[in-house]
Amino acid sequence: MIRLKNEKQIDGIRRSCRMLSAMYRELIPLVKPGVETIELDRWTRDWIKKAGGLPAFLGYGSKANPYPAALCVSINREVIHGIPSKRRILAGDLVSLDCGIDLEGFISDQALTVEAGKVSEAARKLNITTRECLYKGIGAVKAGDRLLQIARAVYGHASAAGYGVVHEFCGHGVGFDLHEDPQVPNSPHGPNPRMTRGLVIAIEPMINLGTGDVNVLEDGWTVVTADDKLSAHWEHTVAVFQDHAEILTEDLWAGPGAT
Ligand code: MF3
Ligand code: CO
Repeated sequence: MIRLKNEKQIDGIRRSCRMLSAMYRELIPLVKPGVETIELDRWTRDWIKKAGGLPAFLGYGSKANPYPAALCVSINREVIHGIPSKRRILAGDLVSLDCGIDLEGFISDQALTVEAGKVSEAARKLNITTRECLYKGIGAVKAGDRLLQIARAVYGHASAAGYGVVHEFCGHGVGFDLHEDPQVPNSPHGPNPRMTRGLVIAIEPMINLGTGDVNVLEDGWTVVTADDKLSAHWEHTVAVFQDHAEILTEDLWAGPGAT
């Protein structure tokens, strides 16, 4: 069931999104060669706590295997849900960050891919194209149109560049919970409801240098490319109004020269 949001509720989600993007503005410069990914998680938890929010990812999922951190840090062949650890970031790594905040019951969700030090030309192009895919997808958001228009835009842009689109994981409704209906896929398959005023969704292309196939590691969370090639991930929380779409999270640049 899709839970539509009224203007007041969208205001609350917007505040949560602004907080999350403000956090990222300070976090991005810390993503540098030599840093342990668990240090980034600790920093994130502290920041969110001081700001008066709650980390929306911490404890999410099944009781048997709840997500153990506030931040996902997914490096190179890791697509999403990388668990922070003592692993150090190396120069040339493609580092995807994903985080959500619960602010007074309103949930935000945003992801981006940071280039640590100087990355390969192939990595840079993948990162830039994945970010473009996100904006192509957002460009297809329109009240009255069908949801899979988003997937067509994302898939078309990624395929034209010769990249694989991850189809096993999707964007999603967001705002009252982290994952709500509808699923927002990046390839045009599955349910295709109309977008309407009050719909709030997380659009999140996950794009691979090789094929779109992925596996989940034994930790039950980390999603990796099946061919071990690079992956990138960009995500915004977006609200649908009668005559326009609004990106609630802030536009951030994490590519060349960001750190
Ligand atoms: N943006 C991620 C997603 O939609 C956030 C989930 S991470 C989790 O899948 F740990 F909270 F599950
Ligand atoms: Co998400």
